[in-house]
Amino acid sequence: MRIGIMTSGGDCPGLNAVIRGAVLNGIKSYDYEFVGFRDGWRGVKDADYFELPRTAVRGIAKQGGTILGTSRTNAFEGENGGAENIAAMLKEHQIDALIAIGGEGTLAGAQRLCEAGLPVVGVPKTIDNDLDATDYTFGFDTANQIAVEAIDRLRTTGDSHHRCMIAEVMGRHVGWIALHAGMASGAHAILIPEVSTTMEEIYQWVREAHERGRAPLVVVSEGFVPEGLDEAFSVRGVDSFGRARLGGIGEMLAPLIEEQTGLETRATVLGHIQRGGVPTAFDRVLATRLGMAAVDSVADSAWGTMVAIHGTKVNRVPLRAALNNLKRVPTDRYEEARVLFG
Ligand code: F6P
Repeated sequence: MRIGIMTSGGDCPGLNAVIRGAVLNGIKSYDYEFVGFRDGWRGVKDADYFELPRTAVRGIAKQGGTILGTSRTNAFEGENGGAENIAAMLKEHQIDALIAIGGEGTLAGAQRLCEAGLPVVGVPKTIDNDLDATDYTFGFDTANQIAVEAIDRLRTTGDSHHRCMIAEVMGRHVGWIALHAGMASGAHAILIPEVSTTMEEIYQWVREAHERGRAPLVVVSEGFVPEGLDEAFSVRGVDSFGRARLGGIGEMLAPLIEEQTGLETRATVLGHIQRGGVPTAFDRVLATRLGMAAVDSVADSAWGTMVAIHGTKVNRVPLRAALNNLKRVPTDRYEEARVLFG
């Protein structure tokens, strides 16, 4: 059996650990061969791939990024796109199955290919942790760790200058990174896409922290929808999927907070730093286990499923289950954190 692996969508620390886990399990347990498609669906459509022997994955579990490259490309668009073309390409190159590692868009593409009869299994990936049907996605822990380290640094400079500091973290539709990084770093306010918060509430939390002699810290998700707007703040145009490029909500809030509270305020956008560099040990283990399990799924011909972590167990779920809903921060988790604000 010859298996193709691809990584697609935004990159994520842990992708290489998935690839290594899959290749090692495939070679050692099943005597499978592997190829890696370059740059996500683009490489699949163009039959642009290279062999992945055991030596190709040596020592890569600790490397950030993806040795395969990635892109935000649609499997069904372009001259070589669509199920028929991809099926013909797999046949021509004697590739018997495909492991698609990606987020919602990638897995939706994988699901459509499976519906057309192609042998595809999925591995969920996103630092945002917004995929349903799995407790966690790898990359989320690393993004949190990076965010907390950065926010701890913002706090010492904020304390020295008696300023209000705003840390803007990633999270397009959901506030998991803001919630976890904010809680871990002792934020006085956490603003997430799922919860509408008035400007007056934000000013009040900042004032309360300042009155206790603290330098207020606000952690905001890039996808937070401020009072008066219908959707997330965006001034950077759209990406190749037509989605708004987010980023800048912190800079938007800073002058408002400064004006209303009289506190000098600075905003920092952590941006893609959260997706870069080495994965944490937690993410390496999770990613390795998911990669190994994806190969077991191939061995069982469990097409149309993705591997998922539930508690400490790795299970298989239908791809559809992950695509039905976004995994949003539940209200009780936000209310729990809210007790600590101000
Ligand atoms: O992968 C998810 C994510 O990091 C979002 O949090 C963010 O909005 C988006 O990707 C940024 O995408 P890009 O790398 O295309 O700018």
